[in-house]
Amino acid sequence: MTLPDRGALSRREYLKGLVAVGGTAALSACLDEESNVEIPTGDPGSVPDRQHAWNAVLSGDDNENIVPARHHVLLSLTLARDPTEEDRGRFERALETLERAYEWSHEGLLVTVGYTPAYFERVGWDGLADPEALTEFEQPDFEDGDLQVHLASDHSRAVLAAEEALLGEVETVNGIEVEANIGDLIDDRERLTGFVGPGLPAEHQDTPGVPDSEPIHEEAPFFMGFRSGFEESQATEDRVTIEEGPFAGGTTRHVESLAIDLQQWYGQDSQFQRVAKLFSYRHAEEDRVGEYGEKLDESNGLTAERIANTAEDAREYGVIGHAQKAARARDDGEPLLLRRDFNTTDDDRPGLHFLSLQRDIDEFVRVREAMTGANVAEETAVGSITNNGILQYLTVRRRGNYLLPPRELRAFPVP
Ligand code: HEM
Repeated sequence: MTLPDRGALSRREYLKGLVAVGGTAALSACLDEESNVEIPTGDPGSVPDRQHAWNAVLSGDDNENIVPARHHVLLSLTLARDPTEEDRGRFERALETLERAYEWSHEGLLVTVGYTPAYFERVGWDGLADPEALTEFEQPDFEDGDLQVHLASDHSRAVLAAEEALLGEVETVNGIEVEANIGDLIDDRERLTGFVGPGLPAEHQDTPGVPDSEPIHEEAPFFMGFRSGFEESQATEDRVTIEEGPFAGGTTRHVESLAIDLQQWYGQDSQFQRVAKLFSYRHAEEDRVGEYGEKLDESNGLTAERIANTAEDAREYGVIGHAQKAARARDDGEPLLLRRDFNTTDDDRPGLHFLSLQRDIDEFVRVREAMTGANVAEETAVGSITNNGILQYLTVRRRGNYLLPPRELRAFPVP
């Protein structure tokens, strides 16, 4: 891929473009661009036991919702051979190098390493299910690598440099010598990239598939134009932590990569319809969301009654909300998924890498079934896709299941 054209883009657009391209050329362009930005270094001794313990080191908004890091790379790697004891030590040293190079925070770098069913087959363990198609409308690609490293930071330079350091393409990272890398162990690398945060989607107005007729709100963190990830609709890190077995203290990750038909979303629907389809009809009627979600606080405003009345709303209003439907899967009022999703323009089209953590992949499947809402469509005038939340605008392109061991087992674990 060629580097984005610096002259045609704002600084922020250019930096996002470089993350999407990746590689040493993009990294050096990024270093030039961000040469005046200092990124704090870190200490492996202060990194928590749980790889997924990010909330305490992310920032919060005015309502104490967690604000995600702005830049993301999901690096899917296929191993050239079964890893040895020496490889384990080497990978651990490579990861510790990153922890020395960057503070464990959104201003430095956050990392998790997840392993796929294909990896666990190498080490004779069958505790993680293969990803499957979860709706009748999809024909996704499936993750076929061994591991996926999630790199997240507010600085594009940090995610790019960390990737190159892990794979042995650079000798220093944020001024720290790269002691070890796993470049020679890797047969194939696939990159999923993206960004999330107020203003970032609006800057992508020139991506093919992003309509310029109706601008995406300047403050919206996501392409579909609304805030998401309210505290009360997110599982806690405790709730998604595996409690027993060889990976107690770890978690699981599902990544559902979606293309979004924004032309239709912005071209065909009114703001009223968009709110009804994302939240609920009553949210739209009572104007509870505002232009991009600014009227909501730490909750998406779904009452227990609204969630329980999903099928009745479908009958009465002929439309149901995405969040309303998905919330039916809460367990005794508690959300099961910790969503850490982000926008993407991979393959030059708008989309979302929906990334969620949960104790068990089955819990993701349950919530996804609630979102699909097939039972509501059977019983009411709401279609299996039309007026059924946001299903009409989404195409599932890829799925992957991963297990994230606790930090001490993160380097090529053997259960
Ligand atoms: C482009 C795709 C998507 C968009 C734009 C989107 C957007 C949103 C928004 C705006 C909310 C309400 C705000 C909040 O509760 O934080 C929400 C809630 C939620 N979404 Fe999505 N979402 C998408 C895909 C998915 C997928 C694939 C799943 C998988 C199951 C999912 C599961 C959920 C859940 C569980 C909730 C919270 C429900 C509750 O309150 O308990 N979403 N989403």
